[in-house]
Amino acid sequence: MRYFLKCRFRKFYFVLVTITLISCSVIFYLSKFTLDKIIELQDSNRYARRGRFRIPQIVGHYMPIVSANVSSDFLNSNNYSPIPGEGEKGNPVVVPSKDLLIMQQLFQINRFNLLASDRVSVNRTLQDVRNHVCKTKTYEQDLPKTSIIIVFHNEAWSVLLRTIWSVINRSRPDLIQEILLIDDASTRSFLMQQLDDYVSKLSVPTKVYRLKERLGLVSARLLGARKATGEVLTFLDAHCECNTGWLEPLLKRVKDNPNVVICPVIDIISDDNFSYIKSFDFHWGAFNWELHFRWFMLGDEELKKRQKDVSAPFKTPAFAGGLFSINRNYFFEIGSYDQEMKIWGGDNIEMSLRIWQCGGQIEISPCSHVGHLFRKSSPYTFPGGVNEILNRNLARVADVWMDQWKEFYYKFNHNSNAIRSTLNVTDRVALRQKFQCKSFNWYLENIWKENFFPSKNRFFGKIQMANISNIGPEYRKYYDIIQEFSRVIHFQEQSIDEKWNKLIKYFNKRIPAINDLFQFNSNEYLCLQKPKSSNVATPYGQTYIKKCLKVYDSLDEMFVITVDGKIMTNENLCLDSFKLQTSDDSSEKDKDDVYYAKMVTCSTKSTQYFVYNTNTLQLLQANTGMCLQGTDISAENESFKIILADCSENNKYQKWILFPVEWH
Ligand SMILES: *[C@@H]1O[C@H](CO)[C@@H](O)[C@H](O)[C@H]1NC(C)=O
Ligand SMILES: *[C@@H]1O[C@H](CO)[C@@H](O)[C@H](O)[C@H]1NC(C)=O
Ligand SMILES: *[C@@H]1O[C@H](CO)[C@@H](O)[C@H](O)[C@H]1NC(C)=O
Ligand SMILES: *[C@@H]1O[C@H](CO)[C@@H](O)[C@H](O)[C@H]1NC(C)=O
Ligand SMILES: *[C@@H]1O[C@H](CO)[C@@H](O)[C@H](O)[C@H]1NC(C)=O
Ligand SMILES: *[C@@H]1O[C@H](CO)[C@@H](O)[C@H](O)[C@H]1NC(C)=O
Ligand SMILES: *[C@@H]1O[C@H](CO)[C@@H](O)[C@H](O)[C@H]1NC(C)=O
Repeated sequence: MRYFLKCRFRKFYFVLVTITLISCSVIFYLSKFTLDKIIELQDSNRYARRGRFRIPQIVGHYMPIVSANVSSDFLNSNNYSPIPGEGEKGNPVVVPSKDLLIMQQLFQINRFNLLASDRVSVNRTLQDVRNHVCKTKTYEQDLPKTSIIIVFHNEAWSVLLRTIWSVINRSRPDLIQEILLIDDASTRSFLMQQLDDYVSKLSVPTKVYRLKERLGLVSARLLGARKATGEVLTFLDAHCECNTGWLEPLLKRVKDNPNVVICPVIDIISDDNFSYIKSFDFHWGAFNWELHFRWFMLGDEELKKRQKDVSAPFKTPAFAGGLFSINRNYFFEIGSYDQEMKIWGGDNIEMSLRIWQCGGQIEISPCSHVGHLFRKSSPYTFPGGVNEILNRNLARVADVWMDQWKEFYYKFNHNSNAIRSTLNVTDRVALRQKFQCKSFNWYLENIWKENFFPSKNRFFGKIQMANISNIGPEYRKYYDIIQEFSRVIHFQEQSIDEKWNKLIKYFNKRIPAINDLFQFNSNEYLCLQKPKSSNVATPYGQTYIKKCLKVYDSLDEMFVITVDGKIMTNENLCLDSFKLQTSDDSSEKDKDDVYYAKMVTCSTKSTQYFVYNTNTLQLLQANTGMCLQGTDISAENESFKIILADCSENNKYQKWILFPVEWH
C-alpha cells in the first residue's frame, strides 16, 4: 500500500513536472514569437505591450567609482582565476554560497559582480544572437581596416581583457589595424607593467597609452584617435564583449558612406551574473527634456523600412556614444569632440546633433551585436560634482546646437542656467557656421519626427482642472477667451487636426494674456502630472492631478499637444486609457468598468488621441468620446487619480484649462 502510494505520488509529480515544462516552453516560445514578430504586428493591443521590453537606460560607461571603503591591497589584487565552463556561451555565473560575502565586498569596487567576472574565461564563447538573415550575409574582402580604441579607468582585469579577447577572437584578423588602450590615469597596480607585458604578446598589435592625470573620456578618446593609423576608428568601452560577425557590417557601412557613424546593437551583460542577454534591435536612441540619453521604440518610418529588410542599418536620432565606428578623416573633419567637455556625459548628444545637423548620418546595424556591461548605479547621483560636470557639458550642447530650444532647456534646468554665463562656446559655434549646419528645428522635423519637444505648431504648457469650489474671475475670463474662439471657428464642422491646428495657433498668440490670468494664483488649480518614477527607467502609469506649482518650477506638469491630438510629455509618454475590469465579461462595456487615465509609451494606438471641446472645456478621447475627469477632491488628499468617464456638461470635474507656457 505504501509502495503503491509512493508510486502514485511519483507519477503525479512526473505529470506535474511535465506539464510545467511544457507550459514553460510554450510561454518561452510565445514570448520569442512576440519578439520576432513584433515589428510586423501593427495590431494596437500587442503594440501596447512593447513597454515591457526595456533596455537599461543608464549608459554610465565611464563613471568614477565612489567611496568603495576597502583597503588598497584589496583594490589592487587581481583575482582572475577562470573555472572551466563557467559563463560559457554567455551563460550566467552561479556563485557558491560560501563565496557570497566576499562577492559582496568585491561588488563594491567596480559596482558589478567582480567575483563572477573573475570566474569566467576572458576567452569565453557567446551565443550568436544575430537574426538569421544576418548570419547568411557575406562581405567583400577589401573592407577598410580599423583601429580599435578602448579607454579605461581602473577597469577590472578580467573585464578589460575579455573586451580585448572578444575583439581578437571574433573579428576577421585582416580588418584590425591595431588595438589602442588609453589609460585615463588608472591607479590599480595590475593595470601598469603587468598589462603592458600581457598585451605585448597578443597576436594583434596592441599599445597602451597613459594619461598622467585624469582628463576624462573625451580627451582620452581624442588621444586614441590621434594615435590611430587605421582608416576607420572603432570605439569600445572597456567592459564589452563583441559577438560573432560584429565588425564587418560596421566597416561595410563606413566604406559605402564615409559620412555615416555606425553603431552595433548593444546587448546586455548582467552586472549580477555576467550572463549575455540579447537586447531588441528595434530600439533607437534619443534624449529627454533634460538632454539625458534614452532608448525609445523605433520611429514609424524606420519600422516600416525594417519590415522589408531586417538586416539593413537603420537611422537613429542619437547614439549612446560608447560603441561606434567612424571614418577617421571624417571624425576629425567634422570636429571630433568638444574638448571643453569634461569627464563624462553629454558628448554623445553633442556628437549626435553635430553629425545630423552638419550633413552626416548616425545608424545602428542590427547585424552587429556587442554586449555591454550595464551597471545599476546612476551617474547622476554621484557626489562631488559629477552633476556639475554633466550640467556644464549639457549646457554646451544646448548653447551650440539647439537654437531657441536652448531657452527651453535653461528655463527648466536651473543648475545649467546658473552656469550659463560662464560658458565659452565660440569655437564650436564657429564650427557650426563653417559647415553651415542645419537648424535644430530641421533635426526635430526630419530626423526625429516622433519627438516630444515643444515647437511652434504644438501646444506647450499645463493642463489644469479648475477648483470649482473657488471659481475666480480669471477662470471666467479664460472661458470668455475660449468662447470667442469657438464663435469665430465653427468648431463642430472641422476635423480633429484642423481644430487643434487652429486652437494651438490661437493659444500661442495669447500666451501672455492667459499667463496674466493664472500666473499669480496658480496654486488654486490642479495640474495634470507626469507619473512619478521610482527608478531611472521610463516612468509610466497612473496619471493624477495635484496643486500646480509656479510656472517654471517643474517639467512634471508640462505637456505638449500635437495637431493630431496626442497629449505627450517628457520621456516619450502619452496620455492613454486603461480599463480596470470589474466584471468577468470583457466583451461588453460594463457600466461599472473604470477607465483610468495613464501615461504610457507613445504609439499610434487610437486611444492616444484627444480633442478639446472649447464650448464645454472638456477633454475628450477621440475614439471613445469619453471625458477626462478628476475624482472627488478633498483637502487632505495631496493628489487625485483621474479617469475617463461619460461626458456630462454639468460635471464640474470635467472642466480643463489649457494653460500655455512660454518656452523660449
Ligand atoms: C571605512 O573603513 C574604516 C576602517 O575600516 C572605518 O573606520 C570607516 O568608518 C569606514 N567608512 C565608511 C563610510 O564605511
Ligand atoms: C583564447 O583562444 C585562442 C584561440 O583558441 C587561444 O589562442 C588563446 O590562447 C586563448 N586565450 C586565452 C587567454 O585563453
Ligand atoms: C575563439 O575562442 C574560442 C574559445 O576559446 C576558440 O575555440 C576559437 O578557436 C577562437 N577563435 C579564434 C578565431 O581565435
Ligand atoms: C542573471 O542576471 C539577469 C539580469 O541581471 C537575470 O535576468 C537572470 O535571471 C540572472 N540569472 C541567474 C541564473 O541568476
Ligand atoms: C572664448 O574662446 C575663444 C577661443 O578659445 C577665445 O578667443 C575668446 O577670447 C574666449 N572668450 C572669452 C570671453 O573668454
Ligand atoms: C479649492 O478652493 C477652496 C475654497 O477657496 C479651498 O478651500 C480648497 O483648498 C481649494 N482646493 C484646492 C485643491 O486647491
Ligand atoms: C484620496 O484619494 C484616494 C483615491 O483618489 C481615495 O481612495 C482616498 O480615500 C482619498 N483620501 C482622502 C483622505 O480623501
